[in-house]
Amino acid sequence: MDKVIANLINEDIQHFWHPCAQMKDYETLKPVVVTGASESYIHLHDGSKIIDGISSWWCKSLGHNHPRLKAALKQQIDKFEHVMLAHTTNETIVNLSAKLAQLMPALNKVFYASDGANAVEIAIKMSLHAHKLHGNNHRKHFLALSNSYHGETLGALSVSDLGIYREAYQELLFNSNFITPIPYVSGTHDPLWNNCETQWQQVEAMLTPFKDSAAAIVIEPILQGAGGMKIYSQDFLRRLRTWTQQHGIHLIADEIMTGFGRSGKMLACEHANIQPDFLCLGKGLTSGWLPMSAMLTSDKIYDLFYDDYERGKSFLHSHTFAGNALAASVALETLAIMDDENICQKATTLGELLHKAMLEVAEKTNRLTNVRSIGAMAAADLINDDPTRRLGFEVYQQAMQLGALVRPIGNTLYWLPPLTMDLATLEELQKITTNAIMAVNF
Ligand SMILES: Cc1ncc(COP(=O)(O)O)c(C=O)c1O
Repeated sequence: MDKVIANLINEDIQHFWHPCAQMKDYETLKPVVVTGASESYIHLHDGSKIIDGISSWWCKSLGHNHPRLKAALKQQIDKFEHVMLAHTTNETIVNLSAKLAQLMPALNKVFYASDGANAVEIAIKMSLHAHKLHGNNHRKHFLALSNSYHGETLGALSVSDLGIYREAYQELLFNSNFITPIPYVSGTHDPLWNNCETQWQQVEAMLTPFKDSAAAIVIEPILQGAGGMKIYSQDFLRRLRTWTQQHGIHLIADEIMTGFGRSGKMLACEHANIQPDFLCLGKGLTSGWLPMSAMLTSDKIYDLFYDDYERGKSFLHSHTFAGNALAASVALETLAIMDDENICQKATTLGELLHKAMLEVAEKTNRLTNVRSIGAMAAADLINDDPTRRLGFEVYQQAMQLGALVRPIGNTLYWLPPLTMDLATLEELQKITTNAIMAVNF
């Protein structure tokens, strides 16, 4: 390794605390040095390139360095980069808001933030506040799905059910209840996809005690990401929506990972033909170019807050960079590309290939089980006979060396590539994944 690069890596370890990491792992697995990125590839300092098999934490839905997104950003930079949005407006944010308001007819009002977790925080706060304004002070309890993940801030963690992320902060979290059992499926052909009557009866019994105290149920519609890429029945989502409506409870749909075509639909809620009260978007909103998230809600909720200032009903929540003009310009162009290039259809077609390819990897390696897929996401679990081993981490290291960034969640191996990935790259990704698994000594 050349000296400059060795120094850079050394400096990195000195000062940079990487996200979601045990930094001691960096002793054995050094960070790779990125010098560029294009389409489905990340370019490294030595001239090699690796496939971005998980769209850089699920956000690069249109791949890297999309020329139209770059042009939109440059155009906005030439106008202005950021002006606070309290009592100012501009063409970009107005156009983006109008476009987002078309995603679901019932959700007409858009509130912006920066990261996904903040959009979840906003929905939680707004739900509680709306119930209070409605005179329902008793509605202050939040429910979420077992195995859920909604981000790392305290409110979002409070409705997340993954021990490794939340346990250390237990004292800081508010109490939520987690719904179980979730009728998981292997894909849309699974009989449970369209009928989960048996599981629903148990879920309904579990929900009933909360019918008068719940403010909202928070869900990742159809696909739970960080919980291990688990897909659940659209019938379950539909029934859950009906139940919340029957009891005056809000439904908060966190589409931060599933939104913008990942599940083969623009929004995963469309699989169950439902509309939530609050919709959280992030990641793919700017195709992973800039941090922007959004929370959409209805006129009905908005009107509860709308009154003379003295009446104290305002939603006084803000983030400095909410609605940032650069991010908004890219988001607007992302939506245009999604339309022009029929990206949802591309995701479905790509997904069929991913599923087939993952089945082939499972067959060839004999080390994968529970192959599942929806839209452009395919996953399987590594068969692990030794719970003390971090098999996923071992496969990750091998794959990096072979030329693909596939970062398993525990022992769940998955592909969640840019929706625009071409067939040749997918074949390469399949080959590398197979060889990475084979290279690990099971
Ligand atoms: C479903 C879901 N919600 C929320 C988040 C948090 O988003 P962010 O990391 O942008 O805060 C994530 C991130 O992976 C997510 O998958």
